[in-house]
Amino acid sequence: MPYTFPGDISVETFLQEYWQKKPLLIRNAFPGIQSPLTPDELAGLACEDDANSRIVFEQHELGHWHVLHGPLNEDDFSDLPKKNWTLLVTDVEKHVPEARDLFDRFRFIPDWRIDDLMISYAPEGGSVGPHTDAYDVFLIQTYGQRRWMINQDYNDSCLDGTELRILEHFTAAEDWTLDPGDMLYLPPNIAHYGIALNECMTCSVGFRAPSISNMVSEYAEHMAAAIDQELRYEDPDLMRQQNPAEIGPDALKRIRTLIAEQLTVDDDSLLRWFGEFSSEVRSGTHAQTPDRLISTYKDLSASFHNDSIIAQSSLSKFLFIRHNDDALLFVDGTSYMTSLAFAIALTDNREINAQQLVESIDNEADRQVLIELYNNGCLLLR
Ligand code: SIN
Ligand code: CO
Repeated sequence: MPYTFPGDISVETFLQEYWQKKPLLIRNAFPGIQSPLTPDELAGLACEDDANSRIVFEQHELGHWHVLHGPLNEDDFSDLPKKNWTLLVTDVEKHVPEARDLFDRFRFIPDWRIDDLMISYAPEGGSVGPHTDAYDVFLIQTYGQRRWMINQDYNDSCLDGTELRILEHFTAAEDWTLDPGDMLYLPPNIAHYGIALNECMTCSVGFRAPSISNMVSEYAEHMAAAIDQELRYEDPDLMRQQNPAEIGPDALKRIRTLIAEQLTVDDDSLLRWFGEFSSEVRSGTHAQTPDRLISTYKDLSASFHNDSIIAQSSLSKFLFIRHNDDALLFVDGTSYMTSLAFAIALTDNREINAQQLVESIDNEADRQVLIELYNNGCLLLR
């Protein structure tokens, strides 16, 4: 098992005792950690059109909160107050491929659960207020100090007059100061309140848990898309009824059967749908097709040398599901039937030696998938 827990406990202990159950503070989980971005680089990213950024301001004396949504511009940074604000950028790993190195330290949790890397920068007093999140998160202090207060029990009423969901009555059950390298794991729905004690940066590695209502509606939509639009409710045996406004038992029975027949959860369609659903890119920035498309496998092999690398685009999400002896490979919401060995080779690491990969592929279907992923920009050649 290559992935270890960043700290003194084993992955097994973490999963059994803490994951989705209770908070865990690990001192010095990442000794000597450097933030993947400097404060200036983070501000630069926050100004890019396709970045997801915001600044949260708190006016302490008045108890007011205010959010400035990105994309931000230079003027937004020119007259910031000395204290009490936080710059937050989400989906950082999609824009900064190197940031995935930190992200990758959490691959003891399956890739389909990983959501994004958020980086925050705050001067003294910066905070987003006490709140809860619906997701699991690892909060890693990369620079300066942040005080974290948490409580499992909380009153969920929120402050009025702000679009932020800030708990109105927060009291701390535990209170820690995190130094660079320290990490706090929080399962969903724990009230937490982080305040920068001095200029500080925090990385949040967040996990996605699809809502049941979203999964049911998306699955039903997927099933509905496969039903012939011409098929309709039919009642050639209709009998006259006493009360015209009544929806009679025969109609109800027929409707129940029609819907139940279409909504049965069949394993094959479920796994294909779930892989496509989980690998969809939701951040709005998608892989870009390369300048020069490749039409044959020979063209591909001819365009690299001994130490060329084939790398996953940082904008793409790669997953697979075993299917009999083969695999369904999912990339950015599309599924491909491939050999199991090929699916593992493409997903185990984000980078792979091009020569070795090409030599290991022994069938035409995998070759075509490789060409398609390259032409879609999901795989890059370096
Ligand atoms: C922060 O980094 O300031 C906030 C992170 C969080 O509370 O989820
Ligand atoms: Co939070």
